[in-house]
Amino acid sequence: MSYARYFGRLLRDSGYSVAKGLAMPLVRREAVRSGAHAMSYPISTYAPWQADPEFQEIYREVRKNTLVDIWRCYELWSLVGELRQVAGAIVEVGVWRGGSGALMASRAAQLGLAEPVYLCDTWEGVVKTGAVDTYYHDGKHDDASREIVAALVARLGLTNVELVQGIFPDQTADRITDGALRICHVDVDVYESAKGVFDWAWPRLARGGVAVFDDYGFPACPGVTQFVDEQRGRGDRLVLHNLNGHGIVVKR
Ligand SMILES: C[S@@+](CC[C@H](N)C(=O)[O-])C[C@H]1O[C@@H](n2cnc3c(N)ncnc32)[C@H](O)[C@@H]1O
Repeated sequence: MSYARYFGRLLRDSGYSVAKGLAMPLVRREAVRSGAHAMSYPISTYAPWQADPEFQEIYREVRKNTLVDIWRCYELWSLVGELRQVAGAIVEVGVWRGGSGALMASRAAQLGLAEPVYLCDTWEGVVKTGAVDTYYHDGKHDDASREIVAALVARLGLTNVELVQGIFPDQTADRITDGALRICHVDVDVYESAKGVFDWAWPRLARGGVAVFDDYGFPACPGVTQFVDEQRGRGDRLVLHNLNGHGIVVKR
């Protein structure tokens, strides 16, 4: 790939997208000026997602249904495989049009994992924005629906998915009766929702299971970054910062 294409893609994938809105360049510049952020370009070139035909086949099917870039999608895909020995359900809160959730469910189905994959969303957009969430407002990402996700799930032939509509955990957590969780993917953009989901999931997470926070370190999501950083320094959890924008909390 030429450098021009590489940097073109980097710019596109790192946020100059319609989904994140026209204000993003300003938000990013402000974040970098604050001294707490910098534009980080990994110099590692290893790209296993390019040489993984099973991943590529599913990614092609879901890519138009996701705001999550290929690097984070591949990490979710890999984690489902890495954690195949950890028994428990997979929960995603923050589904939008279903891409990242369907990707995890496809991998779980390929591996023959017995437990369901719960895809939970209001399908009316983000909720619980507060003072720390300077970029987001309630209702953002309301351009999705349960029907769009159901159609994707059907197209992929998935039978391990349950769609759960409403504010999580307040209105819908009682729909998840499984005793243990393997993975909780938290993609809700703002502090209070991230906290609500994690506080519900943590006691249910199996040992060795993970909570994966999307948008960790994204300049538009300071609430998510703050919440993940609050998990550091505790003996029962390991907090990992991935430069792709995932904050991963592993239960020891
Ligand atoms: C960035 S989008 C999720 C992107 C998705 N994972 C993908 O593959 O593109 C965030 C979603 O979180 C949902 N959401 C935010 N807070 C929520 C909550 N507390 N309960 C349920 N859904 C929530 C919004 O409705 C929105 O669809």
